[in-house]
Amino acid sequence: MGMREDLERIREEALEAIKAAGNEQELEPVRIRYSGKKGALTAILKTMGKLSAEERPVMGQLANEVRAQIEEKLGERFEALRAAALEEKLKAETLDVTMPGKAPKPGFRHPLTTTISDVRRVFESMGFQTVEGPEVELAYYNFDALNTSADHPARDPQDTFYITDDVVLRTQTSSVQVRTMQGKEPPIRVIAPGRVYRNDDLDATHSPLFHQIEGLLIDKGVRMSDLKGYLEVFAQSIFGEETRVRFRPHHFPFTEPSAEMDVSCFACGGKGCRLCKGEGWIEILGCGMVHPNVLRDCGISPEVYSGFAFGMGVERIAMLRYKIDEIRKFYDNDLRFLSQFNG
Ligand code: DAH
Repeated sequence: MGMREDLERIREEALEAIKAAGNEQELEPVRIRYSGKKGALTAILKTMGKLSAEERPVMGQLANEVRAQIEEKLGERFEALRAAALEEKLKAETLDVTMPGKAPKPGFRHPLTTTISDVRRVFESMGFQTVEGPEVELAYYNFDALNTSADHPARDPQDTFYITDDVVLRTQTSSVQVRTMQGKEPPIRVIAPGRVYRNDDLDATHSPLFHQIEGLLIDKGVRMSDLKGYLEVFAQSIFGEETRVRFRPHHFPFTEPSAEMDVSCFACGGKGCRLCKGEGWIEILGCGMVHPNVLRDCGISPEVYSGFAFGMGVERIAMLRYKIDEIRKFYDNDLRFLSQFNG
């Protein structure tokens, strides 16, 4: 009676193998081998036809019983292994909420960015709008429209970077004054921060690239006293309430009269110290009443309108505020320097 023994042997082997499988991947070939369509049981059932009529139902019943048992055990084992795998995975992925966190390292502002936004805030609070202009600029906007004669020394290639005869890297943000006046009817109140370029060698206080902030106010009846008032508010907001300002006559082609503004030294209060080199005063910016030629060139009648303009160096102000002695420190990207401005 070979078939009965065969069936019993298959049952025994299958149940052994099911038990031995350590995970779903190992169990799957066991399922295929014993209960698959081409498995051992199917192979035996195919030989049923050779049995006698009495034996056939008996063996059929046994075969069904073996198949049912194998399938049941397979099902149970699959279920158990799946649960174990899940358990394992959950254990591996547990989150220990008592572990110390990893502190995020958010960036912080560069001291030049801080200085620009502090100055912007002061002027924006007085109704000025921030505008920008191109750094690669027509010589027309950088010089001609600013009443700067063809033979002015600032145009010399030793001072200015030329792209072509007519196109320069702007040497001053004053070019934005012209672009603003040509594109807008007065009243105008703008400030224009940005990079400027000069053919200078790098030393402690000069760099071929630096930043300026330009200011322009055009309206009816604007006077020199308005310029002084606005710039005094600016100086006190940036350098402290106690700050006094003074204006010294100067020359710029695009303003008349022109002046340079000094602030009383915020380190010594005006007594004289290292920061102000014993002067008690520190030069901060150039300014003046917009020249009638400039207004006229921009299509604004100097008979109806007047205004003032000013321009300051951002690096210079930041160096004074933060007591920085080398301009290149702003551009070196050295975190030992920059991280002092964190927070
Ligand atoms: N553009 C001048 C410079 O780079 C600074 C300046 C002076 C700007 C007088 C002005 C001004 O708007 O009115 O040295």
